[in-house]
Amino acid sequence: MLLDGRVAIVTGAGRGIGREEALLLAKNGAKVVVNDLGGSFDGTGSDDSPAQQVVDEIKAAGGEAVANFESVTDFAGAKRIVECALDSFGKLNILVNNAGILRDRMIFNMSEDEWDAVLNVHLKGSFNCARHACEYWREQHKQGNLLNGRVINTSSDAGLLGSPGQPNYGPAKAALATMAIIVDREMQKYGVTGNAIAPLARTRMTVDATPQTAGLMAGPEEEGAHDYFDPGHIAPLVTWLASEDAADVHGEVFRVGGGCVWLMQGWHSVGTVKKKGAPWDAAELGEQLKVELAKGNTAKEDLGSVFKSLKQD
Ligand SMILES: NC(=O)c1ccc[n+]([C@@H]2O[C@H](COP(=O)([O-])OP(=O)(O)OC[C@H]3O[C@@H](n4cnc5c(N)ncnc54)[C@H](O)[C@@H]3O)[C@@H](O)[C@H]2O)c1
Repeated sequence: MLLDGRVAIVTGAGRGIGREEALLLAKNGAKVVVNDLGGSFDGTGSDDSPAQQVVDEIKAAGGEAVANFESVTDFAGAKRIVECALDSFGKLNILVNNAGILRDRMIFNMSEDEWDAVLNVHLKGSFNCARHACEYWREQHKQGNLLNGRVINTSSDAGLLGSPGQPNYGPAKAALATMAIIVDREMQKYGVTGNAIAPLARTRMTVDATPQTAGLMAGPEEEGAHDYFDPGHIAPLVTWLASEDAADVHGEVFRVGGGCVWLMQGWHSVGTVKKKGAPWDAAELGEQLKVELAKGNTAKEDLGSVFKSLKQD
């Protein structure tokens, strides 16, 4: 029982990855606020039943949970999600920012509304919840109450590697990795850690909502024996990060899926060109940069190589 006595919020926990996270956190002893607006994959509509079903499932297994149907996009609503934990279970230890939607489109076709809607749920929604949770943890710390707070943001390879067709979602997800690092740096002194995960899983978001990725996701499944994209593969990492055992894990980003956890390294320099004195001549700078770039040190991972490494022993 890694999380005995701890209280968690998982946003967007009515379906997919968040649902598995809520179930495993509860199985490990956490009391869970199962937040979910219950909308469709593009963020339209609402339905209380997904969150309620997860709560019923947790309770049926002997755990403790409460449903919450707020939208994370609402700053005041996010405060009510935090208050729901405090009112129901007396405290908050863990925030898993997981809620998400998609509105895929190439940049030249994307509407302002498609951009805003996706940024609102992922980036603003995660800020909203973290903002209220961190204010609470800081206040509690001042009163001598160390709660070992955890913020776990849900990033994505769409942001870390860059995926065409997602010029709204990708930047939001890249920002969530950065936000985890910043939250960690700001909140370390209050005993709070911030980390991010980039999951790989088959959910309605990756199959129903984005048919273009369906083939990609179906590949390893054809092997039969091991379902690499079962969303249940994500929750163990989140459960451990949420535990007091992970108190020394700060500002890390992990890709996770199919039984594999990758330790990620963010932006860092892999070469330099230098000139002292007067500013570079632009053409001369270009010549030197071409030499440096040709070394290949800036080559990026792509999803194809990620899937290949997943299948390798
Ligand atoms: N599935 C993958 O392979 C994958 C890859 C990278 C990142 N992710 C991220 O994982 C997270 C979970 O996605 P999923 O694949 O399980 O998709 P999903 O659609 O199954 O689950 C997302 C949940 O978030 C809820 N939600 C949406 N907007 C909300 C709001 N405003 N307030 C509260 N709840 C809201 C939805 O109702 C839904 O139940 C998302 O942040 C997604 O971007 C998923």
